[in-house]
This record gives sequence, C-alpha cells and structure tokens, in this order.
Amino acid sequence: MAWKTLDEMDLNGKTVLVRVDLNVPVEDGRVTDATRIERIVPTVEAILDAGGEPVLLAHFGRPKGRRVPDMSLRQIVPALERALERSVAFAEDCIGDAARQAVAAMDAGDVLLLENTRFHEGEEANDPAFARDLAALGDVYCNDAFSAAHRAHGSTEGVARLLPSCAGLLMAEELAALDRALGRPDRPVMAVVGGAKVSTKLDLLGNLVRKVDVLVIGGGMANTFLAAQGLDVGRSLAEHDMAKTAREIVMKADEAGCRILLPEDVVVAAEFRANAESRTLPADACPEDAMILDAGPQSVARIREAMGECRTLIWNGPLGAFEIPPFDAATNAAAKEAARLTRDGRLVSVAGGGDTVAALNKAGVAQDFTYVSSAGGAFLEWMEGKTLPGVAALG
Ligand code: 3PG
Ligand code: MG
Repeated sequence: MAWKTLDEMDLNGKTVLVRVDLNVPVEDGRVTDATRIERIVPTVEAILDAGGEPVLLAHFGRPKGRRVPDMSLRQIVPALERALERSVAFAEDCIGDAARQAVAAMDAGDVLLLENTRFHEGEEANDPAFARDLAALGDVYCNDAFSAAHRAHGSTEGVARLLPSCAGLLMAEELAALDRALGRPDRPVMAVVGGAKVSTKLDLLGNLVRKVDVLVIGGGMANTFLAAQGLDVGRSLAEHDMAKTAREIVMKADEAGCRILLPEDVVVAAEFRANAESRTLPADACPEDAMILDAGPQSVARIREAMGECRTLIWNGPLGAFEIPPFDAATNAAAKEAARLTRDGRLVSVAGGGDTVAALNKAGVAQDFTYVSSAGGAFLEWMEGKTLPGVAALG
C-alpha cells in the first residue's frame, strides 16, 4: 500500500490534524445515528496514546461556503464526547485566529473539534490558500474519512499534500476490506447491485461486469433490464430510454464471462404502500396496471444457490422496496443467507451505501457481515473503479 499508517508516524508532542466524517443524521439538534462517530474513536485514541494532540477536521451538510448555523459542528460535540468518553473543545472556525488560539490552548490529552470546513468556499474549491491555512495549524495530517475521500476538497486532498500524511485506522480498515472484496478477492465473486436507477449506476455496472463472476441486479434497476428484454413491466419504476444501454451491459457481461442474475419471478402490487395486496408472478407476467416492488422467491432461491458457490460478496443496493413490508422479503432473505455463509466461514461479505446498511440493519444481519463500510458515495465510486482523491493524496 502506498500510504503510511498511523503507527509509522512520529506523533509524540505533535498536533495531528485528523480529517474525520461527522456527517451524521441529526434531528432537532440530536444525533440519531452515531455510527460514524463511534468508528473514529480508535484513531483518536491511538493518536492520544502516541502522545499526539488530535485536532478534528470535518464537514457537515452542504452549506456551500457560507456560515449556516444549522450546520454547525458544535451540535455534534455532545455525541462526540459520549463516544470518546472525554471532553472535546470546540473552535468557532477551522482556520484563522479562532482555530489558532484553540490549538495553542491544547494540552496533552485534549481533543479539539474545528468548525465545519464547508463554511469556507476554499474547502470545496480545494483552494491552495485554504489548504495552507489548515496545514499551518498542525504538524501531521491523518485522514480517517474514507467516506469523504471521493471529494477533492481542501481538508481531504489539498492539506494532505502539505504535511506528512497518513491513513487513520478506519481509513486503513475500509481500504483493506474493499481490496479483499474487489481488488484481490477470493473467487468466485458475486456483486449485488440494487437501487432505483440504471442511469446513476452505469459506471458501476460497467466496471463490475469486468471484475465479478456473478452480478445480481435488483431494485428498480432490474425493471429497466427486464423491459430492455421486451418484457412488459406495467407501471413499474423503469428507465425505458436506457434499454439500449441495459442491453449493452448484458452483452459486455457475456463477453467477460460474468453471469447476470435478473429476477425470474416478481412481487407486484397496484400501489406502493405497507402491506398492500401483492401477488407473485413470473417476471414476464406483470399486469399493465401493476408495479414490480420486489424479486420473488424463485429469484431468491437462485441468488442463494449462486451465493453458496461464491467465496466473496460485495453488496450495494437493496433488491426490492425494502423500506416497506412485504417488499423487503427478497432483500432480507438474501442478506440472511450472506450472513449465514459468512458466519460459517464460507464467504467474505462486504457491504456499503446508506440504503444497503439500513437494509442489513433491518434484516438484523449487519454485524454478521465481514465488513460494513461507513461510506455511501465513496463506496460507490470505489466500486466504479475510480481513484479516490483523498486516498491518492496520501500516497
Ligand atoms: C457522506 O455523507 O456521504 C459524506 O460525508 C460526503 O458528503 P457529501 O456527499 O456532502 O460530500
Ligand atoms: Mg452523501
């Protein structure tokens, strides 16, 4: 690996700028899911143990270069203190006097959080002057925000080029898990890709058909593929203008020896509502006035069978409209099978993306997966085969 890890750095007595991802869901000023906060704890503790003084850099929301009070990181401090089990100081700005004074006031054992980096236009613009202002605050830079590494911003990319830099523990863990799933995986490899639209996942599908042995397509996307084969999908969510593209992806998969699994039976309903009356039909029998909302049991059986023959699984996107029963059945069944095979030591399973993690939690199996990424967009871009600027800058 081209980047340095935390333990390769001399941190004793050093101010360590740590880029973390604190972009957590908040309702009425309270953090409703602290997962991302909890996952940076080992890195902050490792820095403290090594005698370093961690100064946390993060963004929150998309304030677009303006100071938006609702997007202040101050509201994250209580949740951060709970996770770290220590008090955390806060600076009203991430550069300039306020930041400098707060850093200067730190003693050994202190943790400081700086205000939202996106309150400055220079952050998203990756303005070299902004990156220099950040770099001036510390001696060492540590990036522990894999989930923001697809952004080439001042605090994720620019500053990494100005200071001795390393990957934090979470960053290193994420990269190792992804490498195991798609970089140098045990074969055969299955990818499960779901989600509403083919148009947002073209790069993903294009990359995966070259890299995996079995590609399961689910969710609204599957309808586009079924329609492209000439099947009537009724009122289902589908992008009919993507038919040609869908056929090209199937052709590319054929050429690459990648087997595509599309639903062969489907669960349809007249409306998208919890416990709406639903029917299971062959995929070519969707009535004109119905919508496909999940894959059927035969499709699930085929996915489970193929999964049992695979050694590695990478999962992004649910198979059906998992938010609402009974349309969560295929997602739950496939997730439980992946969990079982993983527990038995027969499968390496890696999942990522907000919806995917929500679906695995709902199925009660997230803890059984080999690795669940903290990232959404970054996980997707990595699966697309793209270079993540925040990772590249560490090299
Ligand atoms: C995320 O929440 O996925 C990351 O923090 C990145 O946020 P962004 O999509 O606003 O850049
Ligand atoms: Mg996002």
